[in-house]
Amino acid sequence: MELKNVLLEKEENIAVVTINRPKALNALNSDTLKELEWVIADLEEDDSIYAVILTGAGGKAFVAGADITEMKDLNALQGRKFSILGNRVFRRLELLEKPVIAAIPGFALGGGCELAMACDIRIASEKAKFGQPETGLGITPGFGGTQRLARIVGMGRAKELIYTGSVIKADEAYRIGLVNKVTTVEELMNEAKAMASAIAKQAPIAVKLSKAAINRGMQVDIDTALSYEAEAFGECFSTEDQKEGMTAFVEKKSEKNFQNK
Ligand code: CAA
Repeated sequence: MELKNVLLEKEENIAVVTINRPKALNALNSDTLKELEWVIADLEEDDSIYAVILTGAGGKAFVAGADITEMKDLNALQGRKFSILGNRVFRRLELLEKPVIAAIPGFALGGGCELAMACDIRIASEKAKFGQPETGLGITPGFGGTQRLARIVGMGRAKELIYTGSVIKADEAYRIGLVNKVTTVEELMNEAKAMASAIAKQAPIAVKLSKAAINRGMQVDIDTALSYEAEAFGECFSTEDQKEGMTAFVEKKSEKNFQNK
């Protein structure tokens, strides 16, 4: 696929995905969503990538939402279809078998906040702003906001943000647990890359199985969740990397040579 609105760069074991429509503050239209889906499929297949950073181009926005120009004249059926497309792509990102860090330079509104929430970890610059302004446009959030926001910040805060459409700054987003970390604008990508590198140094299969156990476990009762954990834990003992990690500890070696096997 020819990528026009999404950039994909790979360096060593880390991929950087950039939503690249800066003139529209990286608003997500159907074409951009489809390109993002293609990029996710590429990353699913690429065994050399151990962590992903997702960001927005131009410095002003992560993503300022779904594309309002495209949505304006939709009918009910088309609106539902657009939501299904966004939800499909974001869910695929959430299920990607490698951690995804959202590096958020500026606006993360509507579909942008929803995209950040489909990532595993969110790092924001101090200029970032978050919100679900959809009710002010006469719509509900449509790319997962009614579901993921409550799961991340709790139902009361999610309802307040969605009902009022208010926009909050990075420090407030940090206070309510919507973001993991706030950095200066200049340090944002360095922080995201440092975290991605720290993740990429761990045993990739153990990281992948941890992600799946956390994500699956959050949706079910604690006993079922703990059985997922036991399954994941057991599976690790069939890997070469478990032998490598534990042998290195016992032999007091600081260097570990994980092979993703
Ligand atoms: N869709 C389409 N275009 C958008 C956009 C969006 N979500 N957000 C910004 N743009 C465009 C603007 O129309 C403008 O284009 P032109 O230069 O051609 O006029 C350009 O990006 C720059 O934006 P502004 O001039 O508005 O920049 P600003 O600094 O004055 O304001 C902003 C920035 C507060 C983020 C403002 O652009 C804004 O409010 N954007 C919309 C935010 C929003 O409501 N997002 C939710 C969308 S609905 C949604 O996402 C549904 C869902 O859940 C799936």
